[in-house]
Amino acid sequence: MPHPQAGIIPAPSPNALFLILRVLNPPTNGRAVAKALTGVPALVEKVGAVDPRAKLVGTVGVGSPLWDVISPNKRPSGLHPFTAIESGSLRAPSTGGDVLLHVLSKRHDLNFELAMRLRAQLGDMVEVMDEVHGFQYLDSRDLTGFIDGTENPSGAKDRTQVALIGDEDKSFAGGSYVFTQRYVHNLKKWATVPTAEQEKAIGRKKKDSTELSAKAKPPTAHISRVVMEENGEELEIVRHSFPYGTVSEAGLFFIAYSKTLDIPEKMLGRMLGASGDGLHDHLMDYTQAVSGATFFAPSLEVLKTLAAR
Ligand code: HEM
Repeated sequence: MPHPQAGIIPAPSPNALFLILRVLNPPTNGRAVAKALTGVPALVEKVGAVDPRAKLVGTVGVGSPLWDVISPNKRPSGLHPFTAIESGSLRAPSTGGDVLLHVLSKRHDLNFELAMRLRAQLGDMVEVMDEVHGFQYLDSRDLTGFIDGTENPSGAKDRTQVALIGDEDKSFAGGSYVFTQRYVHNLKKWATVPTAEQEKAIGRKKKDSTELSAKAKPPTAHISRVVMEENGEELEIVRHSFPYGTVSEAGLFFIAYSKTLDIPEKMLGRMLGASGDGLHDHLMDYTQAVSGATFFAPSLEVLKTLAAR
């Protein structure tokens, strides 16, 4: 099996950096950008050598429009731009992007160094669409105060099975589809909600993430909306989301890796009340997505050939 990029399977480190870039004039610059991306694993190694204990890893994702330029005939079969969702007063915008850099380590300065070096290499071929510096908050909580990640697949075997493409698309095996959204929380409104009500919006206890009983957990709880089965099997994603922000604006950078984009898209449809059962995720009443994009993070082997396809 080809090798996945380094940041997908391991459990996250305490600091993350997310960079989303747009390629300017893709017919002219697309291939040169792709060439620079092939050098990211070596760049990670170089910057990471400063302090191997920081465990710096970087993962590169390529958006649908850039695949169209660098490899129009041989592209991941399930990659498409994210289609915005609007449902009543809820919406998930599609903002897109050509390149995603997802950096993780124990040292924020090394994450930043890596991002700065890639940014410098790409020069005026790209513009920065979004840059998010994520931090582990308390014992891995979202800024709503709830533990995030309790039911994330754990262990390399499970995470590999959920996140990586296998024989179903052989040319892209070892790669992974990526779905990202930046959420801005309304923490002021959330703070007015009693803990028992907050727990009903999430479906878990705030203190220790215990799941509410079937009787106590409303069908509009976050976890009621995202837990889905198809043909008797639970649909799963590997989440690498991080809290981010300042005292003025803060939220969650949501990122999921999966074998297919259908899974996070279906979950989101149910969250926003767009799945036809008239229900929406009550957590969405306290937060707003301000970006939405899809990418494909190729295996290390495919990444190497990105500029020569
Ligand atoms: C503001 C944005 C979000 C926040 C604050 C949030 C927070 C949480 C929390 C606190 C949990 C419970 C603990 C856990 O199992 O991790 C959870 C579970 C989960 N979330 Fe989210 N989430 C957000 C967005 C999303 C989105 C956009 C998706 C999918 C597209 C998603 C998919 C899931 C899944 C699959 C679970 C695990 C459910 C289970 O198996 O019990 N979340 N989330």
